Amino acid sequence: MKKKSKMEKEVSEAYDQIAQEFHDNRVAKKNFYNEFLDMPNTMKALGDIKGKKILDIGCGPGLYANTLHKMGAEVYGIDISKKEIEIAKSHYKSIDFRVGSAESLPYKSNYFDTVLIALAFTHFENMGLALDEAYRVLKDKGHLIISEGNPVMDVIESIEGKPEFYRKFGDYFKEGIRYRVWSVFMPVKHVTYETFFRLFKEHGFALYNYIDSKPIKAGRKVDPKAYSVASKVPYFIVFDLVKLSNDNMKRIFGISLPAKKHIKNKNDATE
Ligand SMILES: C[S@@+](CC[C@H](N)C(=O)[O-])C[C@H]1O[C@@H](n2cnc3c(N)ncnc32)[C@H](O)[C@@H]1O
Repeated sequence: MKKKSKMEKEVSEAYDQIAQEFHDNRVAKKNFYNEFLDMPNTMKALGDIKGKKILDIGCGPGLYANTLHKMGAEVYGIDISKKEIEIAKSHYKSIDFRVGSAESLPYKSNYFDTVLIALAFTHFENMGLALDEAYRVLKDKGHLIISEGNPVMDVIESIEGKPEFYRKFGDYFKEGIRYRVWSVFMPVKHVTYETFFRLFKEHGFALYNYIDSKPIKAGRKVDPKAYSVASKVPYFIVFDLVKLSNDNMKRIFGISLPAKKHIKNKNDATE
């Protein structure tokens, strides 16, 4: 693996610390936001995946990978945190998990039908490079599913000294790294919707579908308050993107992709 960037170092160290708790809470179905809000909507976007080759980038402790494997997909998982991968490997032994970065994938080109990036994209130091890598490993017309926090919701902040329901708007247009406290200090990159869509277009993806995530009913019991709010406002979003070949880009939009998209990767020679 290449030398970690500052963001990769901070993110992997933070996830190393919370990995076990995250896994255990998920398995015990105590985690409202992942289990009852993000996952059901992202699974909807993934659709029928039986027999498909899927790469789960930022796979964490392997819960998506395991679900997809049980549904009949050939699944591979990669994560920057050693601890997350250690947990994934210890529980889900028949899945190929590796430690590595989204920005330099150890897989051959044009191999996967689907790439999944669930709640990990805004941790990436160089989102463009990660999109180039997802593009490279996907087959033509393969799907890239990205779930994320809603960038409009993400700038709503609590007010010190005020009850929880008092909130203020932060600066939506100010992009960059913000540190969140999720039991540990966690760097997350805030980007606007405009930046998301520009990046997707510049890196060869067209938007096929979009989901404003709503919680499933079973989540009401787990966290009634969070369920009530998340039923009215979309905390999470899902993009379903399609890789367009250079020919399709030209045919549909009249533009070409930058030449680097056609360069072969070193992994192609070895596998
Ligand atoms: C919020 S967790 C989501 C885990 C999993 N996708 C899920 O939804 O259950 C984000 C994950 O992304 C991983 N991650 C962050 N930056 C990464 C990078 N540059 N390359 C690979 N994984 C990364 C973290 O280590 C962490 O496990």
